[in-house]
Amino acid sequence: MDHLLVTGGAGFIGSNYVRMVLRKELAKKVTVLDALTYAGNLENLKEFEGDDRLVFVHGKIQDREAVDIAAKDVDVILNFAAESHNDRAILDPDAAVQANFNGVCVLLDAARRYEHQRFLQVSTDEVYGSTDDMFREGDALEPNQPYSAAKAGGELMVRAYHETFGLQTLVTRGSNTYGQFQYPEKLIPLMVTNAIDDIPLPVYGDGQQVREWMHVDDHARGIDLVLRNGVPGKAYNLGSGCERVNLDVVKGILAALGKPDTLIRNVQDRPGHDRRYLMECKSIRALGFDPDVNFEARLEETVKWYVENEPWWRRIKEKKVEYQAFMDQWYANRRG
Ligand code: TYD
Repeated sequence: MDHLLVTGGAGFIGSNYVRMVLRKELAKKVTVLDALTYAGNLENLKEFEGDDRLVFVHGKIQDREAVDIAAKDVDVILNFAAESHNDRAILDPDAAVQANFNGVCVLLDAARRYEHQRFLQVSTDEVYGSTDDMFREGDALEPNQPYSAAKAGGELMVRAYHETFGLQTLVTRGSNTYGQFQYPEKLIPLMVTNAIDDIPLPVYGDGQQVREWMHVDDHARGIDLVLRNGVPGKAYNLGSGCERVNLDVVKGILAALGKPDTLIRNVQDRPGHDRRYLMECKSIRALGFDPDVNFEARLEETVKWYVENEPWWRRIKEKKVEYQAFMDQWYANRRG
């Protein structure tokens, strides 16, 4: 596996994965295919400007021509590219279908034609739906939202390519992820950057929803572990076991910044909002996965990263079409 194709490599988890691979010299060459729609940002890979080991191809995963150019000479594909925000997919379900389902089909077809060694699909715990217990890998996929339904569709096509064509596929179902370079529309970076600016923090409904939080460094490590040691055809739950109530996460962010809880606003809930995610992660643990379980310390470190890298997120938040238009459309009618 000398040459990796990382789709969505300019996005949050993708760029952190590329950084890990190049820093640790886990591959000789990495090609990144990224559409740079809104969350993809070449600044996330600035560290490797002028580094011959990194090749960038601009394009969508649902664009066959772009995929052909990017996929021709690689050994494996890792698909990080997705429309990954639930709220945007509620406003525009079709965009989620295009990327999270159709795009996966195009990539699988290329992997088959070029006889790649492996294909890894970065999926999500959200394909299972919501639980009071724990999601296990054999559980039914019962997605509740357009985003997660499109991701579940993508995963099922991955499975079909393994069963039908013998493609050496792997799936990781990652939990909620946080850390450096996350686009400030997701819970943690949105709340951190709003709090820095003393803008209200919009908490959906009663704020008692529960998420399992994993640091992006662990997410990247877990994906690499599955890529190299996973059993083809299998889907791996990938989480930390750190479950936290949303409101507590938000309060932790405010405390880390020395800001008052009065910035919190309970706003109208997200429709179809999953109440709780938690996964049993025995299979990946058996491969040696050992995530950091000190959520509070990593959260504080993450808050510090956003404080120290203000120009990075401010440039994003100032974009009228990409950022502010969505914020206005989504949050305008959710006043508490
Ligand atoms: P998010 O980061 O969008 O991830 P996901 O929907 O994949 O879990 O949201 C995490 C949790 O935070 C989720 O329960 C929704 C909630 N949330 C808010 O309460 N307010 C917000 O403004 C956002 C973006 C999320």
